[in-house]
Amino acid sequence: MRKYLERAKIIRNLPLASSIYHLELYSPKIANEARAGQFVMLRVTEDFIPLLRRPFSLFRIRKEEGILEIAYKIVGKGTGMLSKKPEGEYVDLLGPLGNGFRLPPPGTRDVWVLAGGIGIAALRPLIESIKGAMPEVNLTLYYGVKSSSELFSIDDFSEMCDGLRCSTDDGSFGFCGNVLGCVIHDWETLGTIPSYLYACGPTVMLRHVAQWVIDHSIPSQFSLESLMGCGVGACLGCAVPKKSDGEPSYVHVCFEGPIFSPDIIQWEKLL
Ligand SMILES: Cc1cc2nc3c(=O)[nH]c(=O)nc-3n(C[C@H](O)[C@H](O)[C@H](O)COP(=O)(O)OP(=O)(O)OC[C@H]3O[C@@H](n4cnc5c(N)ncnc54)[C@H](O)[C@@H]3O)c2cc1C
Ligand code: FES
Repeated sequence: MRKYLERAKIIRNLPLASSIYHLELYSPKIANEARAGQFVMLRVTEDFIPLLRRPFSLFRIRKEEGILEIAYKIVGKGTGMLSKKPEGEYVDLLGPLGNGFRLPPPGTRDVWVLAGGIGIAALRPLIESIKGAMPEVNLTLYYGVKSSSELFSIDDFSEMCDGLRCSTDDGSFGFCGNVLGCVIHDWETLGTIPSYLYACGPTVMLRHVAQWVIDHSIPSQFSLESLMGCGVGACLGCAVPKKSDGEPSYVHVCFEGPIFSPDIIQWEKLL
């Protein structure tokens, strides 16, 4: 898999939901190589602060047009500066990076995709590739946020998926509670359980979902986040503790991930 350093033109950079922006970039080389679950390291400024590139998942990969879309939440200096970048300006991108999602095994019937907050950004291309390659799969998206003002692209997801279950912590839309609460509610009331599961969201959410899928022996792939320095295996700043019987052992989110099977991660050491 080739990686490129590309100067990408901003086609669009507009608000999408509360504190969330939608960035469209003309980046034909990276778009042509990229696949679901991969990410780019984006340099938000040519000045020194912030110095480091920031990692962002690919929300949409439009290969034919050479366009990449990113959905990002403003959480600090870098994302704040990015939100002020006008159309027509350029940003430096390094990518595509990371391993990407694998499709579920042939014969899989029911897939549940769990998104917590901005974690939805990594999952859109996955949903597209599963429905494109395995149209027989019955795919339900569980999409949870704090409040309805943070939900976006609902109509789009509703068209792409066979089922869409939204949840909000404050009960302002859909199920009242978090995304795992909604999953457990459906499992208990409908008696259904997926044959395969994908998840992306805050670490605390992933930790609880990991426990649930391990308890129910559901094969899964999780997209993990970590602080990142380089994105390419040089700084080892993205190390995450791995289960091991002996010496402490780690996996590195940028080059061994960001997609992992949840049973290899030592979740209790992560928080
Ligand atoms: C593989 C990967 C894919 C990502 N994809 C997306 C995406 O598609 N959309 C999106 O909005 N965000 C995504 N993120 C998170 C995003 O990279 C950070 O929010 C961003 O780097 C913050 O930069 P900042 O300068 O605005 O914040 P900073 O000023 O650096 O930090 C502000 C706060 O955010 C926390 N923070 C910063 N980076 C991370 C991180 N990686 N994980 C958890 N907390 C963090 C800091 O600890 C601090 O509390 C992804 C992260 C990874 C590792
Ligand atoms: S971020 Fe530098 S090694 Fe992963």
